[in-house]
Amino acid sequence: MKVMTVFGTRPEAIKMAPVVKALKAEDGIECIVCVTAQHREMLDQVLDLFEIVPDYDLNIMKPNQTLSMITANVITGMEEVLVKEKPDLVLVHGDTSTTFATALACYYQQIAVGHVEAGLRTFDKYSPFPEEMNRVLAGHIAELHFAPTERNRQNLLREGISDDRIFITGNTVIDALLETASKPYEFEDETLKKIDFENKRVITVTCHRRENLGEYMAEIFSAIADIAREYEDVEVVYPVHMNPKVREAANKYLGGIDNVHLIEPLTYQPFVKLQSKSFFIITDSGGIQEEAPSLGKPVLVVRKETERPEAVDAGTVKMAGVDRETVYRLAKELLDNKEEYDKMAKAINPYGDGKASKRIAQIIHKH
Ligand code: UD1
Ligand code: UDP
Repeated sequence: MKVMTVFGTRPEAIKMAPVVKALKAEDGIECIVCVTAQHREMLDQVLDLFEIVPDYDLNIMKPNQTLSMITANVITGMEEVLVKEKPDLVLVHGDTSTTFATALACYYQQIAVGHVEAGLRTFDKYSPFPEEMNRVLAGHIAELHFAPTERNRQNLLREGISDDRIFITGNTVIDALLETASKPYEFEDETLKKIDFENKRVITVTCHRRENLGEYMAEIFSAIADIAREYEDVEVVYPVHMNPKVREAANKYLGGIDNVHLIEPLTYQPFVKLQSKSFFIITDSGGIQEEAPSLGKPVLVVRKETERPEAVDAGTVKMAGVDRETVYRLAKELLDNKEEYDKMAKAINPYGDGKASKRIAQIIHKH
């Protein structure tokens, strides 16, 4: 059986790397890797770390690309690859425009799609934008649905997806995290090497979502600046996403503050280590909401909603919203109130046991 995995951005690559490894280890499956390169540098960082050499690279990324540009280029690029390779199954991941456009290209060629990380929902089609609709549409094209949690399965059932096509596997991000965290690593980045992790409290920040660009990012970054200026024992480390609009906002509101370090995106190994050495994390990332709870790190999510409520229910993740006052207040509470901090800083694992990729490969084999 010929299975093609397709991905294009950093988080998809991190979460699909263990799936590629598991498929390659499964007898009777030929695994082909196609990258759209919706991201370039941030994708290549992950390919290098996990030693994945793609069979196809559509190389579509353009500076400041629009959603239509990504979608159109992926659909036409994938058509050629699909016609040539005629895979039995194509695996896509999550909710990016690569995911949706690849699923659509497969549908046009009548090629079956498997959806990894299926069934997450906010039920607001504009938030996260365009990810909520990307995930819904890819889900309705897919034949096989690999849902990380029971809640995700329930979401799919409510949309009429047949039960015998849904498999609860856990999230493959935990496979990637456990494998990476188990390898020894010392920081190479000059800024990180100089940070006194023993005596300072490090707040790791990431922020990149399209719906946060503009007014919300101004609010979030101003709150972080307020905290950094108030607390001398805090160091903020923010590996800034390569989106030029994010970079401009980060520099505008957080540049020039001594204890705020704006650095380049980190490869996955140092980023996992940074998370594990942080006091807490402020983020709008999906993947980090899943990783940090299993590292026992409190997370403030700077978004209005989340499609990952499991860790919120368990108490390690709090929705901080996008206004300056609330983000500031919740960060201050974690810094000042040990009881509140301890309540959140507990390792929980609602997203998987590190074996999701193996399960996915075995289910595909069986089908
Ligand atoms: C994309 C996904 C989002 C995911 C995020 C992960 C869509 C619509 N969005 O958003 O779901 O959470 O990736 O990071 O699929 N850039 C570079 N080099 C890189 C990567 C990006 O220069 O390696 C710059 C380019 O100018 C690019 C811009 O960032 O045009 C935005 O990239 P894009 O993939 O369109 O959107 P993201 O915000 O990264
Ligand atoms: N990550 C990384 N380097 C960084 C920032 C994040 O390797 O500098 C990892 C992080 O651990 C997580 C993933 O990238 O696994 C999240 O990607 P991103 O925030 O870009 O996308 P999202 O998860 O929001 O879709």
